[in-house]
Amino acid sequence: MNINANYDNLEQSYLFSTIAKKVNEFIQKNPDKKVIRLGIGDVTLPLCKTVIDAMHKAVDEMGVQATFRGYGPEQGYDFLREKVQLYYKTHNVNLELDEIFISDGAKSDLGNILDLFAKDNIVLVPDPVYPVYVDTNIMSGRKVVFIDANKDNEFLPLPDKSINADIIYICSPNNPTGAVYNKTQLKEWVDYALSKNAIILFDSAYEAFISNENLPHSIYEIEGAKDCAIEFCSLSKTAGFTGTRCGYTIVPKNLGKLNKMWVRRQTTKFNGVPYIVQRGAEAVFTPEGQKEIKENIYYYKKNATLISDTLKECGIWHVGGKHSPYIWLKCPNNMKSWEFFDYLLEKAQIVGTPGAGFGRNGEGYFRLTSFGSYENTAEAMERFRKLF
Ligand SMILES: Cc1ncc(COP(=O)(O)O)c(C=O)c1O
Repeated sequence: MNINANYDNLEQSYLFSTIAKKVNEFIQKNPDKKVIRLGIGDVTLPLCKTVIDAMHKAVDEMGVQATFRGYGPEQGYDFLREKVQLYYKTHNVNLELDEIFISDGAKSDLGNILDLFAKDNIVLVPDPVYPVYVDTNIMSGRKVVFIDANKDNEFLPLPDKSINADIIYICSPNNPTGAVYNKTQLKEWVDYALSKNAIILFDSAYEAFISNENLPHSIYEIEGAKDCAIEFCSLSKTAGFTGTRCGYTIVPKNLGKLNKMWVRRQTTKFNGVPYIVQRGAEAVFTPEGQKEIKENIYYYKKNATLISDTLKECGIWHVGGKHSPYIWLKCPNNMKSWEFFDYLLEKAQIVGTPGAGFGRNGEGYFRLTSFGSYENTAEAMERFRKLF
């Protein structure tokens, strides 16, 4: 037996374990001080009532012979795929039902999709980046090249035609930076991918945070995208499904064999998302569900606005926070990411995430999130004002 030696090429990630260690040490030394965590990447508000009611009903159905469900369709039940199809229509995107695949979240499918691509493809990834894109490719031995996202391009890099990429990752609204591409910028990426015969893997996990109607929620709002892009979306941040697990992946039929290959891959390696969860997901797309999830998103966005406004007041450069739960700031006084982490913990008892943990270009930057409570966010911002 030979192991997959590509795993030896993965960089160890000490980001979240180092944060936890530093915070625990601080709390032990300063038990009387209140630490506020603004580094949370998970949602904190509970599932909304409409979703819970739908899941309760589905649980009851599972206990009755006439309504019990065993294995479901690997691609998801039509009742949910139809809702996703209608949701895309609200953004003027027409999808066929068999282009929609219900998933157990975006992370799994972002990794699984790589089954469809040859090992010798060149992968283009922005830096800083959601680490899953890089690690999944390293695990399967692919070469990854980086494109710089930085202050000069407001963390929205555009294609460099001299790079011959085969697989391109785009995340908008972005984690970790919160930056969002507009339609003109995304069109540049679509044109670049078409010219290189490349595929874009578009991660729209945060699309529900977009509130400007001119900004694209889906890459398929851009002409030509159905010929070159696969899209991954998730109910995790949209509707608090981080623990419930449900998302959807779009593989257009225009992509030639890829749609059929994905069906084959899923029917071979996946047995679908639980019926109960899919009923909960269906409820997200009802008018009541949409109203309730929007209230939760509004709550997080109020926190984001408060953070962004405070940073502005303090003269701290940042992106994100408008159409995203993430705020990406330049560490004041040219501090490095970890230096700023220690400074903020020591002086204001605020915990965030050092940007250096997301890639080379993250050094000197810092990520704050809006997933905390409003009260804690407001208190943290008061402390920021006093400090800067
Ligand atoms: C950019 C991005 N994509 C995908 C995911 C994973 O989402 P899911 O919970 O649907 O697996 C996350 C989660 O934090 C994310 O930040």
